[in-house]
Amino acid sequence: MNIDILLGLQWGDEGKGKIVDAISPGYDIIARFQGGPNAGHSLEFNNVKHVLHLIPSGIFHPDKLNIIGNGVVIDPAVFKKEIENLGPPVSELISRLIISARANLILPGHRLLDAAYEHSKGNTKIGSTLKGIGPAYTDKVGRNGLRVGEILGSGFKELYDCHLKVHLSLLKNYDFSFDLKEYEKGWFEGIDLLRKFTIKNTEYLINELISKGKKVLAEGAQGTMLDVDFGSYPFVTSSNTISAGACTGLGISPKKVGEVFGIFKAYCTRVGSGPFPTELKDKTGDTMRDTGHEFGSTTGRPRRCGWLDIPALKYAIMINGVTQLFMTKSDVLSGFEIIKVCTSYRADGSECREIPFDNSPVEPVYMELPGWKENISGIRDYGKLPENLKKYIKFIEDQTGISVTMVSVGPDREETIFR
Ligand code: GDP
Ligand code: IMO
Ligand code: MG
Repeated sequence: MNIDILLGLQWGDEGKGKIVDAISPGYDIIARFQGGPNAGHSLEFNNVKHVLHLIPSGIFHPDKLNIIGNGVVIDPAVFKKEIENLGPPVSELISRLIISARANLILPGHRLLDAAYEHSKGNTKIGSTLKGIGPAYTDKVGRNGLRVGEILGSGFKELYDCHLKVHLSLLKNYDFSFDLKEYEKGWFEGIDLLRKFTIKNTEYLINELISKGKKVLAEGAQGTMLDVDFGSYPFVTSSNTISAGACTGLGISPKKVGEVFGIFKAYCTRVGSGPFPTELKDKTGDTMRDTGHEFGSTTGRPRRCGWLDIPALKYAIMINGVTQLFMTKSDVLSGFEIIKVCTSYRADGSECREIPFDNSPVEPVYMELPGWKENISGIRDYGKLPENLKKYIKFIEDQTGISVTMVSVGPDREETIFR
């Protein structure tokens, strides 16, 4: 069992980047398996904050190999910007980062289509990050995609032109103006940069390394409630964000999976449209947003905030086979007199035991727990956490049946408590 999976159990932004970076020392390889530049994974060390979109969050550890797997969709323009902002020179990063030849490319036309589709939806828009994710995965599944391995062939530009022609003809159906040339320039510069990296069938590499006893950490993007099958469809992303996605997105057998670390915030947030039963549209929600700096890492949009949702958490634990829970942003709840937790839903006057497939409204039923006042960011020893926080954690463990083995008390790598 040489591959562990770390993924989000809510609507994304649970703190995956921070925790992947914090636990990377225990692994040899860190691999992204789905999503694309819609992700924004923040991590902090030495008082500097980094936000990663495509590159796995193990990149700042010089002795680790990072892999962008076949399940990811790559925008070369975003890749270039990200590589340039990382710090280490390209010559050094080349030895730390390998890209799957089977990963699909996000083409400039995909970004335009994403914007055109969203624009045409008006009030029913998903709230996409507009990075071209939906159209890129649509072309992948429709067997019309262009893959990273293709950029190494001499006929790549012709292939690109064919795809662009199709996208431009689709765009004619939408009342939508755009300037393609500017984006195309950066995109092709990104292609040139991608060519400098090792592009290969990473499924062989990962399996070979596993058979040699190396440890892989698969890093999820988005969250379970944004999964294309099990999330609040259609208000979801276009990939499988769940643990099964790690197998298809990297080419590994489920038999090789060991731990499934499920990350959740001590409360909930969501960015974009879609159901959010425990959302607080009041001062308490504003306080959470201000204290937790809840603004999107990719788009800067304010995140919707609300109390912890146990039915959704239990659902995510079930779908993913979570073996350990990691709780982040515990420090943000310091100072709340009362902490509410949604323990069940009601619909039409009776208990609703399942997450409705059609997003029909549910009413959260809350339990109230006493809060704590202490600033906990400096605490590194679980035993020293406020009693009421420990009771809150115990309550979550009792409700879900899974142990909370890590508690994050701040954004920095060091602000992490392992039990
Ligand atoms: P990701 O997409 O799951 O990697 O999460 P994001 O990086 O988009 O959002 C999480 C935000 O919370 C980032 O700004 C992190 O720096 C920050 N963060 C992560 N863990 C903690 C924590 O325990 N406490 C606080 N206060 N901030 C945290
Ligand atoms: P990380 O990895 C939070 C949301 C968008 C939108 C929906 C579809 O940082 O947790 P898309 O761009 O995929 O077409 O958007 O999903 N979304 C995220 N929300 N964190 C993310 O990633 C997200 N990636 C997409 O806001 O509602
Ligand atoms: Mg994020």
